Amino acid sequence: MIVNRDVLEAEFVPSEILHRHSEIEHLSAVLDPLQSGGRVDGALLYGPTGTGKTCTSQWLLERLEQQHDDIHTTHIDCWSNSSRAAVLHRLNEAVNGPERTRLTRSSPADEIVRKLKHDLEQPFVVILDEADQVEEEVVLYELYETPNVTTLLIANDDAEFFAPLADRVGSRLTTLPRLEFPAYEPDELVSILEERADHGLRPDAIGPDCLEVIARTADGDARVAIGILRNAAEKARATGADRISNEIVLEVA
Ligand SMILES: Nc1ncnc2c1ncn2[C@@H]1O[C@H](COP(=O)(O)OP(=O)(O)O)[C@@H](O)[C@H]1O
Ligand SMILES: [Mg+2]
Repeated sequence: MIVNRDVLEAEFVPSEILHRHSEIEHLSAVLDPLQSGGRVDGALLYGPTGTGKTCTSQWLLERLEQQHDDIHTTHIDCWSNSSRAAVLHRLNEAVNGPERTRLTRSSPADEIVRKLKHDLEQPFVVILDEADQVEEEVVLYELYETPNVTTLLIANDDAEFFAPLADRVGSRLTTLPRLEFPAYEPDELVSILEERADHGLRPDAIGPDCLEVIARTADGDARVAIGILRNAAEKARATGADRISNEIVLEVA
């Protein structure tokens, strides 16, 4: 039933991002000056969960890093790094590597900010994922003010997160370009699921009508859709079924 479990996991970064052409174009255009030695402040990416904000930005940064030896990138999950110190330490580790990090692990946050501002000579693009979880928002502003750091802020709700930020840490952050990631249409989810099923499941393990049931149930959220596919595949395996049926899908959805 399952031939490659990895591609059914939420953390998997697909080699091909479907239905995000305009978002990829827009973000590429925003980051384009980096390719010719220019500076980019960053961008705000927002939209409901499971709309590809994380995978699209990671996919794009991986490519940027591969194409340019002097551009470096990292991804920081602000759910698990919500304090100013945690964000700055993760960034410091990413910039300086494990060797230097050992020496600077105890560096106070202020010292890290100072060093990034003065010592960072090459572009460093950082995804601050789930940025609405950051408790000390001043760090968002500090990174914005750091010349060679480009910050991609990801949050669910534009108005809820970005608008009040203006009052708290200054309006300049809110002038960053904004990219909206809308919920997927059912047929878009079907093709995302097809791709995962092709790589993750035995041929013919699931039919198109069944993928459509999953897509409609997932309500625009690719994470939910892939989760249902994974659970249905496991249920089918556990019960010895050779195909995933609508009944199995409805049981696990
Ligand atoms: N356009 C897409 N093409 C292929 N897979 C996608 C696409 N969008 C989302 N996914 C997959 O769906 C899951 C959720 O996507 P994610 O980027 O984490 O969403 P978000 O960050 O918006 O919550 C991940 O497993 C991701 O690989
Ligand atoms: Mg995400």
